[in-house]
Amino acid sequence: MIPIIPVNDAAPLAGAATVSGLKNPPPLSLYIHIPWCVKKCPYCDFNSHESRQEIPEQAYVDALIADLEQSVPKVWGRKIRSVFFGGGTPSLFSPEAIDRILSQVRMLTPLEYEAEITLEANPGTVDAAHFKGYRDAGVNRLSLGIQSFDSRYLASLGRIHDEKQAITAAELALATFESVNLDVMYGLPNQSLEDALADAGRACELSPSHLSFYHLTLEPNTPFHRTPPSLPDDDTSAAMQEAIEQLLAQHGYEHYETSAFARKGKRARHNLNYWTFGDYLGIGAGAHSKLSYHDRITREARHKHPNRYLENTAKGLAIDSEWSISQDELGFEFMMNALRLTEGFEIGLFQLRTGLAISKIEPALKIAKDKGLIEIENNAIKPTLLGQRFLNELLQIFLG
Ligand SMILES: C[S@@+](CC[C@H](N)C(=O)[O-])C[C@H]1O[C@@H](n2cnc3c(N)ncnc32)[C@H](O)[C@@H]1O
Ligand code: SF4
Repeated sequence: MIPIIPVNDAAPLAGAATVSGLKNPPPLSLYIHIPWCVKKCPYCDFNSHESRQEIPEQAYVDALIADLEQSVPKVWGRKIRSVFFGGGTPSLFSPEAIDRILSQVRMLTPLEYEAEITLEANPGTVDAAHFKGYRDAGVNRLSLGIQSFDSRYLASLGRIHDEKQAITAAELALATFESVNLDVMYGLPNQSLEDALADAGRACELSPSHLSFYHLTLEPNTPFHRTPPSLPDDDTSAAMQEAIEQLLAQHGYEHYETSAFARKGKRARHNLNYWTFGDYLGIGAGAHSKLSYHDRITREARHKHPNRYLENTAKGLAIDSEWSISQDELGFEFMMNALRLTEGFEIGLFQLRTGLAISKIEPALKIAKDKGLIEIENNAIKPTLLGQRFLNELLQIFLG
C-alpha cells in the first residue's frame, strides 16, 4: 500500500479555506463496479472477466456492502447525488442483488431522494423481468451497450448479441425506464461512412434521452491491439464524427461532452460530476475513488481481481492503494476532465474543486489560447472547435 502524503504545501486561502484549499466538499457520487461479462470483447480494457464459472453473486454483494460500510466514515454525512452500476456487465446480476445493494446504500448513506441511479446493461443479457426488477429496486436510468445496429459489425467486435437483440433491448429499456442511454461506437473494422451514419440514424429513430458515441480505440493489452483489424483512416473517422454530430444535432441532441449527447435536461448527472471534478466513492473490484478532505485530495484503488477483492474485503482491506494528488497533478486532472465539456467551465470552479488559484495554470492557459485551442470569455473557459478535435494536444499543454 502506498502511504498517504498530506498535501501540506497547499497555499491557504482567505476566509474559511482549509489546508487543502477547499472551502466546501465537492458533490459526491457513488460508483459500484460489477467485474464480470459473458464473454470478453477483443477491444475492451475495462476490468471485466469472462464468467466461466457461476458468478459468486451473493458473496460479491456481501463484499460490496462490507466495502461500503468500511468506506462510509470517509464521506460521513455527505449526500450522494448519483449511483452508477458499471462494469463489466451489471445486468448479469439479479434484480434481487441490485435491490439488496441499493437498500444498503440507503441505510448507510444519505442518498438523495431524487438521485440518478444508472445501471449498465449488455443487450445479450436482458429480459423484461430483469428490467422491471431493476426499476423496482430504484434504478431510474439504463445505459445499454449497443455498439452497432448492424450484425456484421457486431460480429467483428465479438459481441454476444446481434442487430435484432440490440433493437429489442433498446425498445424494452425505453418502455421501462424514464432515462435511457445508448452506447454506440464508430470507426469500426472496415466500417464505411454510410454505415456509421446508418447506426447513428437508427439510434436517433429510437429517440433515447441520451446517446454516447465513442470512437473505437485500440487499447493496450487487448487482442485488437495485438492483432489490429483494418480500421477506417483518420480522415474517414473525422468525417464520421462530424456527420454523426450533425445528424444528432438535427434530431435535437445537445453535444455537451466529447462523446456525450443529450436531450434538454437529460445530461448524465453522474458523468457530469466526473467532468466537473466532483468527488466519487468507487466500491467493487478495481474501482477508483477521488475524495476531498480538509487537508488533501486523494485517490484510492480497490483490489482489481474479483477473487483478491473478495478475500481482502472480508479482512477489511478492500483498498489496494491510496495516494494524495499533488498540486501539479490537480491542475492537469481538473483540466483533463473539464475541457471535455463542450461549454467548458466557469473559472471559479477551478478553485472550488482544486483549492488552487487559477493563476497556477495561467502560463498553460495562455499557450492554449494563443494556439486557438481554448476561448476565455465571460468568466468561462471553453475548448474551441479546434480544441475539441485535438483534445489530446490541448491537454498536453496542461501536463507541463
Ligand atoms: C462497460 S461498457 C458498457 C456495458 C456493457 N459492458 C457492454 O459492453 O454492453 C462501456 C462502454 O465503453 C465503450 N468502449 C469499451 N471499449 C471501448 C474502446 N476500446 N473504444 C471505444 N469505446 C469503448 C463501449 O461503447 C461500451 O458500451
Ligand atoms: S461486454 Fe462491455 S465490459 Fe464486457 S468485455 Fe464487452 S465491452 Fe467490455
